[in-house]
Formats: sequence, C-alpha cells, structure tokens
Amino acid sequence: MQLHRSRYGSALEIGHLIGGEEVFEGEVQERRNPADREDLVARFPVGSKEVLRKAARVAQEAFRAWSRTPAPVRGAVLMNLAQILTREKEALVRLMVREVGKTFKEAGGDVQEAIDTAVFFASEGRRLYGQTVPSEMRDKELFTFRRPLGVVGMITAGNFPIAVPSWKLIPAVLTGNTVVWKPSEDSPALSYVFVRLFEEAGLPPGVINVVFGGGKDSTGQWLVELMDEGLLNKFAFTGSTAVGRWIGEVAGRNLLRPTLELGGKNPLVVLRDADLELAVEGAWWSAFATGGQRCTSAGNIIVEAPIYDEFKRRFLEKTESTVVGNPFTHPQVTYGPFINQRLFERWLEHYTWGQQDGAQLLFGKARITAKNPYPHFQGDPEAGLFGWPTVWEARPGMRQFEQEIFGPTVNLVRVEDLDEAIEAANAHSYGLSSAVYTNRRDWAYRFKNEIRAGMTSVNNSTVGAEAHLPFGGIRGSGNGARESGIWVIEEYTYWQAVNEEYSGRLQLAQMDTGYTQPRPPTDWAGLLG
Ligand code: UN1
Repeated sequence: MQLHRSRYGSALEIGHLIGGEEVFEGEVQERRNPADREDLVARFPVGSKEVLRKAARVAQEAFRAWSRTPAPVRGAVLMNLAQILTREKEALVRLMVREVGKTFKEAGGDVQEAIDTAVFFASEGRRLYGQTVPSEMRDKELFTFRRPLGVVGMITAGNFPIAVPSWKLIPAVLTGNTVVWKPSEDSPALSYVFVRLFEEAGLPPGVINVVFGGGKDSTGQWLVELMDEGLLNKFAFTGSTAVGRWIGEVAGRNLLRPTLELGGKNPLVVLRDADLELAVEGAWWSAFATGGQRCTSAGNIIVEAPIYDEFKRRFLEKTESTVVGNPFTHPQVTYGPFINQRLFERWLEHYTWGQQDGAQLLFGKARITAKNPYPHFQGDPEAGLFGWPTVWEARPGMRQFEQEIFGPTVNLVRVEDLDEAIEAANAHSYGLSSAVYTNRRDWAYRFKNEIRAGMTSVNNSTVGAEAHLPFGGIRGSGNGARESGIWVIEEYTYWQAVNEEYSGRLQLAQMDTGYTQPRPPTDWAGLLG
C-alpha cells in the first residue's frame, strides 16, 4: 500500500508475504533513506516466532507440488523473472538508491547481477544433470539424481539487497525447494518488491515466503532456532562471521549443511613492476566502492618497498578526489551514506584502534558533518551518516589490519618483497577475496598458488565477481560453501543414487559379481633370463 509521496518517491506500508497473502502482524518498524532520514521508504512489521512457524508450514506444504514440477518448467518461471527484472530495472534501481544509499551505477550492477543469475538458472532447469553409471552386474543400471532438500531458511544482508538474495533464492527454487526468507531490516521494500516480481513471473504462492524483522533477539534469531524444531531442511546466510559461527553450530546439531557467506579482510597486493595507474584505480575502487560496505572490499593494500612512496602519493591524490554525498540527488558521488547506524558505529570505533595500536592516519576525519566538512561532499551531511574516505598506514598484528571494518577505510602496508607480501596478505583470519597487480607471470602464479582465499584477481580489483563463477571464501569467510554458477547447486540438492534391476533375480553386489580372475602368472624371469 502506498502511504505518501516525498520528492524521492512513495513510502510503502508492507506486510510479510506468506503463501501469497500479505500478513500485517507484529510491531511496525520504519525504514528510512540512509542519505536523508526525512524520506520514509517503508513501514514493515517484525515477525514473531509464531509467524515464522506459519511461514515454514506453508513452505512445507508448497514443497509437495513445487518439487514435483518439472525442472524445465521451474526454469521457465526464472526466464519470466529475468524479463520482468529487466523491465523493472530502473524502478528497482531508484528504490535501491533510496533504501540503502547505493549510487545509481552500483544499484544498476546489483539488479543486473540478479538478472544474470535468473538467465543462468532458467536454462539450468533444462540441465540439472545427474549421471548414468555402469553397474558391476548384467541387466542392471545405476543412476544419480539431484533431489531438493525441502524448506530453506535464509537470512541476507542489506548491502547487496537484490543480488545476494538472488544467489540464494534463484537456485533454491530452481532445484525445487521452498523458502522462508528473513531479509535485512535495511531493505524491506526491495525484498517485498522482489518477491512480488517472482510471483508475477509465475512462482506459485508459498514457494518463497518473506518474514520481516531484525537479527539478534528478533526474527533472524528465531528463524535460525526453527532448525531445532525440525521445520527447516537447509539454512543459507550472508552476514558476519560471529553470527555465521552460531548458525553453523545450530545447523550442525541438526545435521544440516548451511551455506555461510561471511566477512573478509581482503588484501590487494601491488608488486614493483605493476602498472601503477591501473593499480591505484583498482585499489581506490576496491576500498571505496559502496563506501567499503562490501564483503569483497579491500582492507589492506600491500605495496612493495621500491614503489611504495610513489604509490602512496598517487593513491592519496586519488582518495582526495573521492566524491561523497547523497547519491539520489547527486548521482556523480563515488559513495553514499552508511547503510545503518550499527555499521557507522563499528567504523567509527576503528579510529580508536588506530590510535591505540600506533597506526598512522594519512587521510580522513571520521564522520562528515557541517562542522567537520569534507571538501568533496554533495548534499546535506547532517541528513544521514557519512564518513570521510580514510587511509592509514598499518602493519600486520594491528586490529585494523586483521579485522573487517566495513566502511570507507583502507590500510597501506609496506613490504620488502614478494615473500613478505604474500605473508602479509595471509596474516589475518579471513579468506574471501584477494588481488595482485603485476605483469610478471611467475609472480602472479606464485600469488595465485599461495594466497589463502576463495577468490583471486590478477590486475583487477578485489570486488565485482561475475554471476556465474563460484563466490565464497575459506577460513573466517565461510564454511566452504559456494554460491553462483553451477557450484551453488550442491548447496540446494542432495544426491540420490538409484539402481534398477532388470534380471528378475536377486543379484548381490560384491558377492554375485562375475569378477575376472587373473590367469596363472607367466615366469618372465625364467623366460627372459
Ligand atoms: C557482498 O558484499 O556480500 O563481488 C557481495 C562483488 C559483488 C558481490 C558482493 N558482486 O563485489
């Protein structure tokens, strides 16, 4: 329901979507434009555990028919979805700029990633291959089939409000599962519209159910706890490492294999022979795109000593040209506001870490305000929470070197040689993305082999993974699960091994098998000696 219009657009009054019905149950919360708190985007209810249970039961019921729908027919729904998302791309982009404060360009990329994912999986409905496997018996055939798991619980973050949910929702429904989704409280309107578009594409009611709410001590936590009630058959989560660990524990005791896409402290290494202009631009984009609020954002820029001073000079020059502000009213900004207060406070805290740990602040003065103005700011800095682009000189062992900051902050780290660069690039507990800038093939080769990360770029930024390559990390960045491309199918299916007996007899594998016995050995030594 449309509430009222501001200069940005309408505010929506939305309910949970359960079985195709809109359910207005729970205390109502507001989502406001983070670049301009005057702009109300949506009012949405906070789902209780009872609402979640209801959604899970509806999803269980919908699973019966949906899992029996032929996969190519399920895929056709996704082809419709791709067309509908393309048609509505502009409207979704405008809503995304308002609701989470991304720039138009980046919001366009976010929606496009979902379109690409829908196109990829639409045709996957016509593959979803299993295998035919030879039997050790006559008149018997073996096969493998992929089967859906059942009801999937999902929790997603607000920084990629359409793309990241699409990585989960699209393969989950293509493979025949049904879903209870708790989206980020930072993007209720986009999540609501996204599911409405799935419905328009022909997805039957109850296949994707949305229940809104918060995380800890709220709807997100209660959804995780439904695993203990046996109401979920799979869990998929994108968010912090701490929460991911807990979800992994709950899933583990229920013998469920969760998908956990967690934090990162992504290194970008610049070696002495690198194309410096390319490296500066890639490092700057990796650090400040989305205001550093990507799990793939660069955390540490590790530079070899011979080019360190020149790189630092050029990087600081580029950083000083960064334009910050309200991306809706000033589309040319590099980045907009913090998505929420919690992320802002966390970011602010790292200024204290830097001082305590002896890092050197090269650029940046915390929050941008009227009294603490940033020269390239556009809009009203008091209307939201905006941060100065911030650059430090830091070393391994410091908190800001090791911990994810999730804001417009990056460290420059000076190293003597390639060995030290690789060591520094691995000197934290994450393992999501990574990058190296060099034109030497042997150095690139060493980096690819020795970096401990799920994703690696050579002469490219740490961000911007394509929609059909496996996305995910190792160590603190996840549990090895991968999203995107064919790899994610493993997350939403189990393998069923089938054997079919045509002999009309009880043939016992291993026991009745007509193995060939070797003939008596030839005495080669005697013959040749
Ligand atoms: C995230 O921040 O959770 O590779 C996902 C990238 C984007 C996705 C980021 N395509 O940077």
